[in-house]
Amino acid sequence: MCGIAGYVGKNKANEFLLNALKKLEYRGYDSAGMTVLNEDGSLSCVRSVGKINELEEKMKKEKEMTGFVGIAHTRWATHGCPSEKNTHPHHDCKKNIFIVHNGIIENYKSLKKSLEKSGHQMESETDTEILAHLIESHFDGNLQQAVFDCLRHVDGAYAIAVVSKSDPGKIIVAKKGSPLVIGIGDGEYFVASDASALVGYTDRVIYLDDNEMGVIEKDKYKISSTTNNNQIHKEHCKIDLDVSEIQKGGHDYFLLKEIFEGPEVVQNSIRGRIISEKGLVKLGGLEVLDQKRLRDINRIIIIACGTANYAGMIGEYMLEEYAGIPVEVEIGSEFRYRKPVIDSKTAILAISQSGETADTIASLQEAKRKGALSLGIVNTVGSTIARETEAGIYNHAGPEISVASTKALMSQIVVLALLTVYLGRTREMSMITGKRITDELKKLPKLMEQVLDTKEDIKKLAKKYSKYNNFLYLGRKYNYPVANEGALKLKEVAYKIHAEGYAGGEMKHGPIAMIDEDFPCFFIASTDSVYDKMWSNMEEVKARKGKIIAVATEGNEDIKEIADDVIYIPKTLEMLTPILTAIPLHLFAAYMGIEFGFDIDKPRNLAKSVTVE
Ligand code: G6P
Repeated sequence: MCGIAGYVGKNKANEFLLNALKKLEYRGYDSAGMTVLNEDGSLSCVRSVGKINELEEKMKKEKEMTGFVGIAHTRWATHGCPSEKNTHPHHDCKKNIFIVHNGIIENYKSLKKSLEKSGHQMESETDTEILAHLIESHFDGNLQQAVFDCLRHVDGAYAIAVVSKSDPGKIIVAKKGSPLVIGIGDGEYFVASDASALVGYTDRVIYLDDNEMGVIEKDKYKISSTTNNNQIHKEHCKIDLDVSEIQKGGHDYFLLKEIFEGPEVVQNSIRGRIISEKGLVKLGGLEVLDQKRLRDINRIIIIACGTANYAGMIGEYMLEEYAGIPVEVEIGSEFRYRKPVIDSKTAILAISQSGETADTIASLQEAKRKGALSLGIVNTVGSTIARETEAGIYNHAGPEISVASTKALMSQIVVLALLTVYLGRTREMSMITGKRITDELKKLPKLMEQVLDTKEDIKKLAKKYSKYNNFLYLGRKYNYPVANEGALKLKEVAYKIHAEGYAGGEMKHGPIAMIDEDFPCFFIASTDSVYDKMWSNMEEVKARKGKIIAVATEGNEDIKEIADDVIYIPKTLEMLTPILTAIPLHLFAAYMGIEFGFDIDKPRNLAKSVTVE
């Protein structure tokens, strides 16, 4: 999803801006651009479709950017195709005001009409360009006032950064719905849509909240309300990001690095949270709540998108089986448009790696409006969901750079298991069960290492199966969401192949018609309560000459009779098997994508952080 960067200070703006754009690359984008106010009063703007290095090459051919104030953007197309004209920064008629924007201006059509009527001429198909012209229509030399006046007419979501030749030396920023952070340096300020862009520059930040705007100059800043222009005092926060954390750590791709980080991530997610001898879990983020309110909760609705949604489904099974709480799981984009039945005993649990997924945020807000207790499982500290929920649990998975989510899933499942014990132990769950789950959680990192050690076998499998066009992934109970996840990952990073995830029992209601010798199936068939049922499904596929790749529990030799290929996982509690069974599926998708020569970190058309509907 789009990324914003801004700089005002003592150094050349283009240096930070370029570095920041590179750090924001992981969010997914299709074009990039930069505007710098030069020292001689002129202004440079370079935009290009494609990767940041193409922008960099183009910049070398243009007049050198000498200024100390600038804004930049990576765009992921929403209004209008990826093209130079549609790339940010956008400008007004006189090329005096330049703007970068994340989000969507919902009333842009009507604004466009009235601006065109009064003589403004647009060049792009974007909603952002409208903002530049709207600011122009209010501009009389004071950029801050013009932005304030403009925003009163705007419906929708935005994070913006604006500069003007006629009011130089400053950047005006504003936020509603999309994230924006200001980094505080020494004689310089930075702007970014995501704190990771600031790594190496500063660890002191101010998170802008909705309906706030800021005027940032090289030696001062001022934050005020976009509703009444009153000044607002903001606290500084310290961010804790390490440059090495966002580099590839010896792997060719972030995706592989993140898959192999799984054991460490799980360790970090459970660290300090287990009281073994009592079979209890300590979750500081939930202790801020009145515990009676938490005990009174009689229903949980989990909302999440993509991979986080599959984690939610696994959580549903855990919470119902072990904590005895009814749970529903819903994707954000559906929930937000339903009329959900919610009361004060309902808890809404938003799961999100980025904490910025627009559909998840909107659902959360809707449930809060109806009186639900709002909880979050979020990886990105200080993100919108983290701030909008009454209480929550951080994943501590570290920054996830690859667009396709892997290590965040591991951590989400672990946190859901911790939550199950936390809530379960205040209900029916015995100390023995609590202890059994927490003891097993502690063993997971070692068991995950064992599965990761099969990487060479999985690489060979990817080669062997790369000639097929379709894949079916089947699983039951805790491993049904894993089947969905395996198929999603293959679709995301090896998109030449079509894949579907299905519940084993549903195969006979449709997908079985597709099975023949050209249709391989992945079976997640760990030795558990539904193993015999999975065996019957394998028989059905074999009878139709379908190829079978099975993920099975070590010691199961029988499975070799029916499966063409087997990947073994060690034994663990049934509820925790997804953490082990998802690993080979993640690796398989990654190696398959590499086999096809794809950039598996940034698959085409996808965005890391989907901050629009
Ligand atoms: C995008 C990403 C997925 C991710 C989903 C939800 O689609 O490409 O990898 O699972 O968003 O993101 P979230 O940040 O809310 O977990």
